[in-house]
Amino acid sequence: MKRHLISAADLSRDDAVLILDTAEELARLADRPIKKLPTLRGRTVVNLFFEDSTRTRISFEAAAKRLSADVINFSAKGSSVSKGESLKDTALTLEAMGADAVVIRHHASGAPHRLATSGWINGAVVNAGDGTHEHPTQALLDAFTIRRHLSPDGSGAGQDLAGRRITIVGDVLHSRVARSNVHLLSTLGAEVTLVAPPTLVPFGVESWPCEVSYDLDAVVGKTDAVMMLRVQRERMNAAFFPTEREYARRYGLDGDRMARMPEHAIVMHPGPMNRGMEITAEVADSDRCTAVEQVANGVSTRMAVLYLLLGGNESAVAAARTEESK
Ligand code: NCD
Repeated sequence: MKRHLISAADLSRDDAVLILDTAEELARLADRPIKKLPTLRGRTVVNLFFEDSTRTRISFEAAAKRLSADVINFSAKGSSVSKGESLKDTALTLEAMGADAVVIRHHASGAPHRLATSGWINGAVVNAGDGTHEHPTQALLDAFTIRRHLSPDGSGAGQDLAGRRITIVGDVLHSRVARSNVHLLSTLGAEVTLVAPPTLVPFGVESWPCEVSYDLDAVVGKTDAVMMLRVQRERMNAAFFPTEREYARRYGLDGDRMARMPEHAIVMHPGPMNRGMEITAEVADSDRCTAVEQVANGVSTRMAVLYLLLGGNESAVAAARTEESK
């Protein structure tokens, strides 16, 4: 593993499988009455959130706490950032407080990279979503969820996603989740197809390791997982489709379309969902939809990332066992 996690594109197949396997070991913790490991005791993780978030921030907080790290939550609202403080001055403040890891979400694409390469801080930097660029831990938790569901023994330990067909549908243009998933899933050997209206397909997509289709009905019948993306109204400064009804009809997932998916195929959504837009309530609430499970898997996956970046050098389970026997 590298020192920082900025982009899913930086992960090799072996890095990614190691993170998923470590997450799988750590997930077993969640079944125990005491969900805490002493691994990061005395280390400080700062959650630096410049953009709204519910699940990602809580998930990183839960992950760090389950590893016994001290957690400082910093959100731009109500901080000196609203007085005009720069990223640099904020970073220097965190460094003075001894942050071992900084988990950053920022509205500007590239902010985590800047933080990691600036020399302002010494700790590990984890990208928790930057603008429309990347959201690598979301892609990791998605890969974890897919691997668990599609492997015969229910864990998939040691395996990648070779030959799996994954369809990512919707507002790809504004989606850091889609970008990170295309990189990670293809690194893991999956065949990825993006489905979107032509106006929501990013410029330069030809160089991405995936296929592009404009016809959801043509691909749902032969896919192992369908990942629905939220229509990101807050990032839209123009009309990208005629009406919401038209969008939902052509690119939304409803019960009829879901019924045409192979029986084993799952429906994924990173949340928050726009019910009635990209996904109907019937599909969102069906037992084929893994949205809630993805949130739970996010905690184990982020534990694995923090554990590996902050120098976990033995198997996570071995560490847990040693502590138990003390
Ligand atoms: C995503 C994000 O913030 O990029 N959500 C998340 O992290 N759970 C996707 C989204 O906002 O649609």
